[in-house]
Amino acid sequence: MPTVRPLGPGAVDVEVDVNGMRAPLHVPPHRTLLDALRDDLGLQGAKKVCDEGTCGACTVLVDGRPVYACMTLAVTCAGRSVETVEGLARDGELHPVQEAFVAHDAFQCGFCTPGQIMSVVALLRANATPTADDVMRAVSGNLCRCGAYPNIVEAALAAARKATK
Ligand code: FES
Ligand code: FES
Repeated sequence: MPTVRPLGPGAVDVEVDVNGMRAPLHVPPHRTLLDALRDDLGLQGAKKVCDEGTCGACTVLVDGRPVYACMTLAVTCAGRSVETVEGLARDGELHPVQEAFVAHDAFQCGFCTPGQIMSVVALLRANATPTADDVMRAVSGNLCRCGAYPNIVEAALAAARKATK
């Protein structure tokens, strides 16, 4: 069972698994996962753009499912697994989805990119051979104001092809 130990009227202690590492947090109940990641843990890959659940720039995976970290309370993540874009690279090598985004120019300003990548990673884990429609559906909660969608779809399909070779 997740541990949530009250520490007075405000903050509570919670322990979250972040990118495979134990992350003890001391947070007030209203603190979002996004603020806990960015300000308490220094993981600034997930972006704070709208901060109200409309853009997807803050997308991370909780127990493998994409969520808006700005709409998720940190305390609800006690005992759960959180994955951010920082956790994807291994031994200095980019994750195949990250590599594909670079190879296919799937970003311009880059603000939406960490969220797009996390949504694509979740898709490819669930569906190794997605169609372009599957990719569009997977990133439908991730707004790209630069209009990089065609290249994002290409990158996701290329990463899927590479992974299934
Ligand atoms: S910053 Fe979370 S949805 Fe926009
Ligand atoms: S690359 Fe700029 S918002 Fe998507």
